[in-house]
Amino acid sequence: MTASLKKLFVKTFGCQMNVYDSGRMVDALAGEGYETTERLDEADLVILNTCHIREKAAEKVYSEIGRIRAVKEARRSDGKQTLIGVAGCVAQAEGEEIVRRAPAVDLVVGPQSYHRLPDILRRAQQGSVVETEFPVEDKFDHLPGVTTGRLRKAGPTAFLTIQEGCDKFCTFCVVPYTRGAEVSRPVEAILAEASALAEAGMREVTLLGQNVNAYHGEDRAGREYGLADLIRALAAIDGLERIRYTTSHPRDMDDALIAAHRDIPELMPYLHLPVQSGSDRILAAMNRRHTRDDYLGLIDRIREARPNIAMSGDFIVGFPGETDADFEDTLRIVREVGYAHAFSFKYSPRPGTPAAGLGAQVPEAVMKARLAALQAVIEDGQRAFNSATVGRSFDVLLEKPGRKPGQLVGRSPYLQSVNVDAPAHLRGEIVGVRITSAGPNSLFGEMTAVRGDDALARMEAVS
Ligand code: SAH
Ligand code: SF4
Ligand code: F3S
Repeated sequence: MTASLKKLFVKTFGCQMNVYDSGRMVDALAGEGYETTERLDEADLVILNTCHIREKAAEKVYSEIGRIRAVKEARRSDGKQTLIGVAGCVAQAEGEEIVRRAPAVDLVVGPQSYHRLPDILRRAQQGSVVETEFPVEDKFDHLPGVTTGRLRKAGPTAFLTIQEGCDKFCTFCVVPYTRGAEVSRPVEAILAEASALAEAGMREVTLLGQNVNAYHGEDRAGREYGLADLIRALAAIDGLERIRYTTSHPRDMDDALIAAHRDIPELMPYLHLPVQSGSDRILAAMNRRHTRDDYLGLIDRIREARPNIAMSGDFIVGFPGETDADFEDTLRIVREVGYAHAFSFKYSPRPGTPAAGLGAQVPEAVMKARLAALQAVIEDGQRAFNSATVGRSFDVLLEKPGRKPGQLVGRSPYLQSVNVDAPAHLRGEIVGVRITSAGPNSLFGEMTAVRGDDALARMEAVS
């Protein structure tokens, strides 16, 4: 049996949801006799799970296909077949165009059709297949369950998609087009998956959604659950000690969810809550549907509920029409919030989005300078946040071997990487760690006899 297994090579681009989806595809294809490989040259099937969010991300796919085509041709001269598949958001956005531009591609499959992969593969033997309709059936009802053996190998943390798609239509963003309308998975399906994860040894689960705090699922009795209700139910699962969620929209941060940050100890004190810009004019042009003050007021309320919460965000510089004054507003909001971490991007016009058609596109050189200035301010904040943890102790979930022998790397409640001298058998455990030094991107610490006391709870918010 083992000898006849076919090899699958998967490369994942983009966000955590793509990472989750790649795992689900691997599980679905295991049923078709595929096992994964890290070696492209032995792959019978290659899947690129792609991202369309910015031009650079989308263009990467074509250079990647070029590289794979060479391998495909070399294998063909050895009499071996290689199927090339493009999945993910570029597949959804470009569809047929991909096969026209890159005829070596055998199958194109959008994110809502992964449950059809076995059938698509069969059809791809006869010629290229493009499947980018939004099917009426829900893929999650038709995908096989998560294979926990695969997860166990990866460590004690897992992603779990609970909501997909987006109805917000920010004017710069392709996600509503590539992922479709907002859909929440039913409560029982999520709880069952989470229980399986916990039984497989997962200590931490990150709930995923393009707009995860818009979650509104139902249980079998028809009772409505918001994200706060769902987190409460998940926290009751034995073995699940840490819960995180991403990505949230400020408009959907309701009172119940804020209260959950106060009341549920399993919910980690770290929140990714993108604001994109600090300028009201730009926020309006982006269709974010809130102001700078709304956002700052919201953060005040969240910090009142959970004083030690660490904030993270996303920013876009150079949105069409952004002036120096608008950009200054962005720098100010970053300083005011005091982010523990943040991502920042140059605006990239995306086909089909309203902002791409706006005049007043900001010149590349200006965007570049603004990005550098913003990143300097973000890094200052990140460094300050990390240094403030030195001398304090908290719980660290040990996830994987460290760089040096005898070391493990884990995560603090605030999602910082922490290097600790610890024996390998503690991998997967949560241990108390006292932080001894801090670098810009990671911390170093030593194990303490007791679990951490969340000493940061008593720390003033870093500003
Ligand atoms: N759903 C999330 C983010 C999805 S995309 C949210 O609402 O915040 C992740 C990040 O990519 C966004 O937060 C934004 O900062 C960035 N992004 C999205 N479209 C972009 C574009 N056209 N150009 C540059 N950055 C973009
Ligand atoms: Fe894109 Fe806005 Fe939806 Fe986030 S909320 S996925 S940025 S449209
Ligand atoms: Fe990219 Fe699609 Fe995620 S565009 S960021 S892979 S939802």
